[in-house]
Amino acid sequence: MRAIVAAPDTPEGFRMTDEPDPVPGPGQILVEVRHAAVNAGEIRHLGVWPAGTVLGYDAAGHVVRAAADGSGPRAGDRVVAFGAGAWARLAVFDVDSVAVVPAAVDLGEVAALPLVGLTALRTLRASGPLLGRRVLVTGASGGVGRVAVQLARHGGAYVVAVVGSPARGAGLADLGADEVVVGLDGIVDPVDVVLETVGGAHLVAAWGALAPGGVLHSIGWASGEPAVFPVNSTFAPGAARTLRSFGDATAPGPDLALLVDLVARGVLRAPIGWRGSWQRLGEATDALRQRRVAGKILLDLD
Ligand SMILES: NC(=O)c1ccc[n+]([C@@H]2O[C@H](COP(=O)([O-])OP(=O)(O)OC[C@H]3O[C@@H](n4cnc5c(N)ncnc54)[C@H](OP(=O)(O)O)[C@@H]3O)[C@@H](O)[C@H]2O)c1
Repeated sequence: MRAIVAAPDTPEGFRMTDEPDPVPGPGQILVEVRHAAVNAGEIRHLGVWPAGTVLGYDAAGHVVRAAADGSGPRAGDRVVAFGAGAWARLAVFDVDSVAVVPAAVDLGEVAALPLVGLTALRTLRASGPLLGRRVLVTGASGGVGRVAVQLARHGGAYVVAVVGSPARGAGLADLGADEVVVGLDGIVDPVDVVLETVGGAHLVAAWGALAPGGVLHSIGWASGEPAVFPVNSTFAPGAARTLRSFGDATAPGPDLALLVDLVARGVLRAPIGWRGSWQRLGEATDALRQRRVAGKILLDLD
């Protein structure tokens, strides 16, 4: 099968090549991948995978072989999936890491959702009820941010979206942001929940904007910059503020099904900012690194 694998000896860090077809193990299905998506972390950390590792985690396609024990989707079903080895014509996924996609939902659209959707959904869910609460989303122009804005708004929150420039904020009001602000200097009213994807100075400033009892989810570190907290900034009177890590993408199937349902009901739009052939992956990753992608990269496996 054709696949994109880690190639530390190349300037890009990956190459397209032919690999043996994967063989599903117990509780796994074989999927013919039609669309795959690129996550920021997969590009940033290309060097960590040994040469020859089939890359990618987000995919959508058709089941070509059901699980041997009869669990999960059947052959022919359209599915969205999360799991290692997604940037390939054929990929195996655990049955609890996929969701069936109804005919009315575009496979390409849902392929862009798995990791960013799970991340936004699970951090918001861990924040408690959102109705009437103020939710701050940093890196809101990116993949996680554009899903988080929509889900927070759907949950009834007042959503403040933080971006790097006015141009990067385009479209966020349409997705549900009540305020779109450049940087965190203008945040005056405290917020109850922060979804923080940029790290560095953003993390420090967002922590400072947190109301007593509030929670900050440290999701990512897109800036690559260290965070230096002013002395005593983690001390404050009143109800405790909480800083939480996030990294739990285990057993994603039911949450993928929820995301698909939200798309089917018109509540959630996949934030596709770049779409093209998987043969143009190098061009797409350059655009992502240069912050020219408003949301996700979607690859068509033509
Ligand atoms: N913990 C987890 O399980 C998990 C899951 C998904 C993602 N992540 C991490 O979360 C972060 C965001 O993911 P994503 O998919 O939303 O990424 P993304 O699409 O690249 O968005 C990141 C956003 O961060 C902002 N940013 C600020 N400084 C930046 C810089 N120096 N370089 C690049 N971007 C910068 C950009 O917004 P402006 O251009 O508007 O400033 C950009 O839109 C990444 O670090 C990713 O690895 C973690």
